[in-house]
Amino acid sequence: MNQSAEMIYRRVDGVDYSAARDNTALFSLLLVIDGTRSVKTIAQEDKYEIEDLLPLVDQVEKLGLIVPVESDSGRAYQEAPEEVSFCKLPKEYQTGIVMVDNQHQRLVDMVKQLDAIRKGQYPSTELKNKAIGQVVVEMIDYTVSHFAFEESLMQEANYEHYNGHKRTHDHFISLADEYKQRFVSGEDIIDELYKILNRWLYNHIQNDDMAFAPVVLKTVKAKGLSKGAWMKRLLNKFFN
Ligand SMILES: [Fe+2]
Ligand SMILES: [Fe+2]
Repeated sequence: MNQSAEMIYRRVDGVDYSAARDNTALFSLLLVIDGTRSVKTIAQEDKYEIEDLLPLVDQVEKLGLIVPVESDSGRAYQEAPEEVSFCKLPKEYQTGIVMVDNQHQRLVDMVKQLDAIRKGQYPSTELKNKAIGQVVVEMIDYTVSHFAFEESLMQEANYEHYNGHKRTHDHFISLADEYKQRFVSGEDIIDELYKILNRWLYNHIQNDDMAFAPVVLKTVKAKGLSKGAWMKRLLNKFFN
């Protein structure tokens, strides 16, 4: 497994999702928990036996990944809040797929980090460039993994606009690569890069990612959490 695929499981505050990696039911539960549906509602709507669901919820709670909240229909769960974040993604940018939202949060944090570097005082240009270089490389690496993750979800859900979405991802990767090349050849690209990343990321999440998320969630629910084959195939495809 490459480093950024491993990172996909880690939140900004270090909470680690990797315990859910080999457990498809656990993993798919993390995709549908949203803080509004009670455990009973999830069992009914996602065709889950309540006796199977309760120990699973218990397990995820013990891992520290979800916390109980009161909802209209009884006790529900939501993702455990992050302790460290530069700028929490607003509600209108939340897809409802917990892992995708965490990945977006990390990307937004990286862009904020880039902004802090660009505005920061450094003892030398060399040190500043070193800091920029690290963030740029990490960000491109993480973005590639994030895109692959989303593409696996979309493919498995037979998302009708998959090709268009993938083209947008591919275009962004080549754009990011161009900036990397220009940076390596000594050009000062940080202001331009920051503006493009900021605009692109928010636009893409709000327009493209928000569009595929309901289709994926519907598929996860329709296929039922306990039928692990679909999720297993997805995880194998992405992480092997
Ligand atoms: Fe995304
Ligand atoms: Fe996307």
